[in-house]
Amino acid sequence: MHIKQIQLKNIRTFENASMEFSKGIHLITGSNASGKTNLLEAILYLATTKSIQHRNDKNIISQEALSNSVLPIAKISAVIESEQHNHDIDMMFSKPIKESIANDNQGTGRLTKNFRLNGVTKKASDVIGTLRAVYASPNDMEIILGSPSERRKYLDILISQFDKDYLKNLQRYNRIIKQRNSLLKQIKNIKKRHGELDYWDDQIAATAIEIINKRKSIINQLSMLAKKHYEILDKNNDQLAINYYPSLPKNNNSLSTQDIEQKKFLQFLQEVRSKDLQQSNTTIGPHRDDILIYLNTLPSNAFSSRGQQKLITICMRLAEAQISNQITNEQPVLLLDDILSEFDEEHRNYIVENTEYVEQIFLTTPDLANVPKSMIARAVQLQIRSGEIKKF
Ligand SMILES: Nc1ncnc2c1ncn2[C@@H]1O[C@H](COP(=O)(O)OP(=O)(O)OP(=O)(O)O)[C@@H](O)[C@H]1O
Ligand SMILES: [Mg+2]
Repeated sequence: MHIKQIQLKNIRTFENASMEFSKGIHLITGSNASGKTNLLEAILYLATTKSIQHRNDKNIISQEALSNSVLPIAKISAVIESEQHNHDIDMMFSKPIKESIANDNQGTGRLTKNFRLNGVTKKASDVIGTLRAVYASPNDMEIILGSPSERRKYLDILISQFDKDYLKNLQRYNRIIKQRNSLLKQIKNIKKRHGELDYWDDQIAATAIEIINKRKSIINQLSMLAKKHYEILDKNNDQLAINYYPSLPKNNNSLSTQDIEQKKFLQFLQEVRSKDLQQSNTTIGPHRDDILIYLNTLPSNAFSSRGQQKLITICMRLAEAQISNQITNEQPVLLLDDILSEFDEEHRNYIVENTEYVEQIFLTTPDLANVPKSMIARAVQLQIRSGEIKKF
């Protein structure tokens, strides 16, 4: 699939910009702070319906537009073309009430988002995956160095783009966990009896095993594919391994390689019940899972060099695009945000040549000297300046 057309109205540094794209490579240049990342973020927003880079989703709207007492139209629109279908996506942003959210940038003022697919209003979960995109940026180091929640976010974004059931299970699971936790608190305060927990435990077990088994299978694929890329890129013969680490009661981690059944998970919940009651918190389950990344059996967050960590994350991104392609039979869009300058020439060449499983690439750079010549020759060149996107 590829993006045929995009329009940005009052999105970050773009007051009103539009551009048509074709399949293939698009090389986006522009000085620092010209809006290159902003454009890629808008594209990623189309794929995921949220801001991945920034906690505050509201910052997707341009500050200038936000400072108006009546918010002008703020939207991202795109035409996505693929072999199986063509889609118009519209994402519109508005303020909930007349209050100015400009005065509340760090606060709680919420953004109202309205999503349309082919002119029909849809929920976010129905729009996710219409455009499938893989985004690689220098911030990917967080996948290795960040907290387990960063790695769960990485995994959830990857799987949700091609598996709607996974996304629904995840949303359902998060709701049930909140309900169970609130019940745990009430039982602790002797307002409710234990028996009610059985109901929620059944619900959790049913949903959790779907999430766990899906995560396991995707991480296995990811590990295999990323390992192959790493073997080619790394000169020291280091072995990359990416392992799933499901949150289960202690001494059960060998289960990470087998499928877990509902009955077994229910048993786990019963095992930890008294601890959960004590802590008023569900202490096992997919909301606490992690991914362990090793080079030669040593955890890469503590032992790998920065260069190795960068290589690992780009190998994971390339593997991600392959998985998306294999599962959906359609090639996703690859967004490479200023990552080439971090690699030597050989690695740069490998990254840009190893893209047969993507249909369209957007590569940003402030400096063309970092881009392999073979790629420049094949690319459509775009420049961002003063809020405009221009071909040249
Ligand atoms: N909501 C917003 N409204 C207005 N301006 C914004 C908003 N969010 C970010 N910006 C501005 O966008 C600029 C950064 O743009 P961006 O990160 O896309 O630059 P870039 O071209 O990727 O630069 P670099 O080459 O340094 O990576 C900053 O000057 C920032 O102030
Ligand atoms: Mg940038």
